Amino acid sequence: MADKIAKLRIDDSEYDLPVMSPTQGPDVLDIRKLYGQADVFTFDPGFTSTASCESKITYIDGDKGELWYRGYPIEQLAAKSHYLEVCYLLLYGELPTQQQMEDFETRVTRHTMVHEQMHNFFRGFRRDAHPMATLVGVIGAMSAFYHDSTDVNDPWQREVAAIRLIAKVPTIAAMAYKYSIGQPFVYPRNDLDYASNFLHMCFSVPAEKYEVDPALARAMDRIFTLHADHEQNASTSTVRLAGSSGANPFACIAAGIACLWGPAHGGANQACLEMLREIGTVDRIPEYIAKAKDKSDPFKLMGFGHRVYKNFDPRAKVMKESADEVLDLLGIKDNPTLQVAKELEKIALEDPYFIEKKLYPNVDFYSGIILEAMGFPTSMFTPIFALSRTVGWIAQWKEMIGDPQNKIGRPRQLYVGNDKRDYKDVAAR
Ligand code: SDX
Repeated sequence: MADKIAKLRIDDSEYDLPVMSPTQGPDVLDIRKLYGQADVFTFDPGFTSTASCESKITYIDGDKGELWYRGYPIEQLAAKSHYLEVCYLLLYGELPTQQQMEDFETRVTRHTMVHEQMHNFFRGFRRDAHPMATLVGVIGAMSAFYHDSTDVNDPWQREVAAIRLIAKVPTIAAMAYKYSIGQPFVYPRNDLDYASNFLHMCFSVPAEKYEVDPALARAMDRIFTLHADHEQNASTSTVRLAGSSGANPFACIAAGIACLWGPAHGGANQACLEMLREIGTVDRIPEYIAKAKDKSDPFKLMGFGHRVYKNFDPRAKVMKESADEVLDLLGIKDNPTLQVAKELEKIALEDPYFIEKKLYPNVDFYSGIILEAMGFPTSMFTPIFALSRTVGWIAQWKEMIGDPQNKIGRPRQLYVGNDKRDYKDVAAR
């Protein structure tokens, strides 16, 4: 609701812009009627100052380094909750009772298998296809298999689609990994928890027994929680925009996965580990810091910087602690990549360029070190980010579909092309 009015003066005219106040964060100027009243657009490429929607799901404070899921700080959820409970919280707005948690876990568990014919999809890809390419393709194709949960106007179908996606994306991600290494697909097991099931589907082989290490499963589960949602980031905004046209949820999530793949977004975890490997040793860090500061060089420090966090990314802090724990658990001493990462962070945070531009490690800076130590190839880092973020995407999609203010997203532009002109015959050109 608007409780204040901002005044906009253009030439001799003055326009009232209602000011809407949030639970937390900056006020917003309601400009929905501006074009109709003043015949002007606002201009904000990259949406640095634009609120695209109203949401109750996730709150971020970039200056304080705060991230809350439905009001609960990420540090508390990472320490005390688990991913499926976080999924329930993001989807339904409250932490579940014991009974609600058991019911939800049973529903998700019973949807983890995929239609047997989906196995054929993988055969069409080259073995060396990036798993993100496979994920985009196979998840988009889910709309060809699950017709009974594609009607976005049916609340029951929206609910089933959400459960199916949360349950099946890990199975499909694991299948993409197995296919890329020429090993047989491993079916999900209903006796395993969510994270253990994913590790089982990725790392077990028919030829021998595979026991999931509970400590590794806990670390995996925490990584899922840290990536679950993050306000209106690029891929979530993609899912919302796709959903605003009424596209089915599987197509919308496939669009979100495609957007997440970019190295400026979710693809940064793979790019960051490859950068740390390329740096190789601590003595080469200054060379790369100089490259990152050189305006003529497109190189950026992967895993550094963030549109919102201008102090620190609270997820990076938890991830850094987890990296030490996992490497210690696995008996990996003096991991050169972790050494380079820690020294790079230290040097960068003391460098005036990074201080002035408020560049800090983000969620992608340490995650790759943990995932590599757990046995994942770099190509699986972004698929793991995607499967973690599926619940955030689908929670935001459900919120948008259920919002009475929901309209198709259709931005305008600042047109700077040619003015109107007449066609010229080729002889006259
Ligand atoms: C994620 O939005 C989210 O919430 C995303 C995410 C989520 O959970 O969904 O948090 C996940 O995507 C994290 C970000 C992962 N990406 C990377 O680590 C890639 C490296 N980072 C940069 O590409 C960049 O920092 C972005 C894309 C993350 C943020 O870009 P912005 O907000 O558009 O900031 P900017 O590019 O305008 O940078 C401001 C200045 C620029 O210099 P000037 O033009 O002012 O001179 O800082 C510089 C940039 O050149 N800069 C960097 C840098 N990041 C920004 N310089 C060197 N190294 C970097 N990493």
